[in-house]
Amino acid sequence: MDHPGQERGPMFAFAALALVLLGGPWATALDNGLALTPTMGWLHWERFTCNVDCIEDPENCISEGLFMQMADIMVSEGWKDAGYEYVCIDDCWLASKRNKNGSLQADPKRFPSGIRHLADYVHSRGLKLGIYQDVGTLTCAGYPGSFGYYDIDAQTFADWGVDLLKFDGCNFKDVESLVEGYKSMSSALNKTGRSILYSCEWPLYLRPFQEPNYTEIRQYCNHWRNYGDIFDSWNSVKTILAWTASKQESLVPAAGPGGWNDPDMLVIGNFGLSWDQQVTQMALWAIMAAPLFMSNDLRHISPQSKNLLQNKDVIAINQDPLGKQGYQLRKDKDFEVWERPLSNLAWAVAVLNQKEIGGPQNYAFSTSALGHGLGCSPACYITQILPVKEDLGLYTWISQLKVRVNPTGTVLLKLQTYQQQEYSSHTSPDDLVSSNSTYDYYDYYNNATSDDIISVTVLDTL
Ligand code: GLA
Repeated sequence: MDHPGQERGPMFAFAALALVLLGGPWATALDNGLALTPTMGWLHWERFTCNVDCIEDPENCISEGLFMQMADIMVSEGWKDAGYEYVCIDDCWLASKRNKNGSLQADPKRFPSGIRHLADYVHSRGLKLGIYQDVGTLTCAGYPGSFGYYDIDAQTFADWGVDLLKFDGCNFKDVESLVEGYKSMSSALNKTGRSILYSCEWPLYLRPFQEPNYTEIRQYCNHWRNYGDIFDSWNSVKTILAWTASKQESLVPAAGPGGWNDPDMLVIGNFGLSWDQQVTQMALWAIMAAPLFMSNDLRHISPQSKNLLQNKDVIAINQDPLGKQGYQLRKDKDFEVWERPLSNLAWAVAVLNQKEIGGPQNYAFSTSALGHGLGCSPACYITQILPVKEDLGLYTWISQLKVRVNPTGTVLLKLQTYQQQEYSSHTSPDDLVSSNSTYDYYDYYNNATSDDIISVTVLDTL
């Protein structure tokens, strides 16, 4: 294995770190100043689907009341403070026909006050409103699509005060019109002059015909779905993770401030995932720098799921300003190790136990595998974030790290690298660890000065 810091000395390691900090080869993002970190909010689809029966099921049908209630709860129950900002309508909000001027209209029975009123309501609570449309002639559920009406519909959304558009890809004529449609809606939104976040499904619908060009997609969309719809099940979550890992070479470089891969909604707080599987979804969506759209019923959610979804440390990883998506580092029997570079030379590391039989399993691995060999070079402080927060202490680049993970669960860690106080081409990491067990380090990432040198004891060296 290639560990630059180990084989070529700390100066090389430092130069490599500088490169990491300067950022990757991101293509230009859609220039609307939005989604500089992954979008956070609530989206009705997975939990409420196309329930239009307000007679039989008034509490759960797609109606203005549902979104108003969610907006109220997002403010009163700490969701807004945790960062969840967009209240989003999915399919099935429309009337079956456009009005006589050709403009879209909401279903008059279920949205009697209209979308502009709903947007005002959501805005008055300090939140933003998202809406749904489709690039083709009909939405996936069969309501009028935007094909042929891109400019008109974008202007309608802007006039209503909409802040986000989820643009689906059902019922398009051919590949050219799919691609042109996604581009046209992007410029139509831009032309309105209103800041409207643009959430696409372009690569998902394109992939059966051709490999998506992410450099291009990033120029038009703030995030994009790559894979099929999420369901409320472990099978669905694990399939999305496996697919993402299998395509990570093209997906990971595509993500960055302004444009993100979207592995679909968080289904935490519903019926299908065990506690450990909910932890896995939250941890891995943070590693993947995924938009966090909860699709659950905020009126009925367990305190445990709520705490997980509002966990500040996981959200901070998801929202990390460096804006680099993580990746699967290794698969080792039943364990997957994922890592994500974070700002201030920190790393998030997730260890997932895929096994669906038995009890908790121990997994031990060398810290030298982490962060391209630099995560713990020469030392790092490790905090466990999930399933519960716990300080694990200081490790060096030759430490063994041992975690215990429940079946289908994940242990999420944050590593803070400590660098040696003085760098010289004469010092090698071997000198550091062999002489004695206590060293001085800068807390380099917090821009420490020499006054801030901390003395640390290196634990758990081999
Ligand atoms: C597609 C999308 C889903 C949802 C439905 C609505 O399947 O991928 O996320 O929007 O359409 O009909």
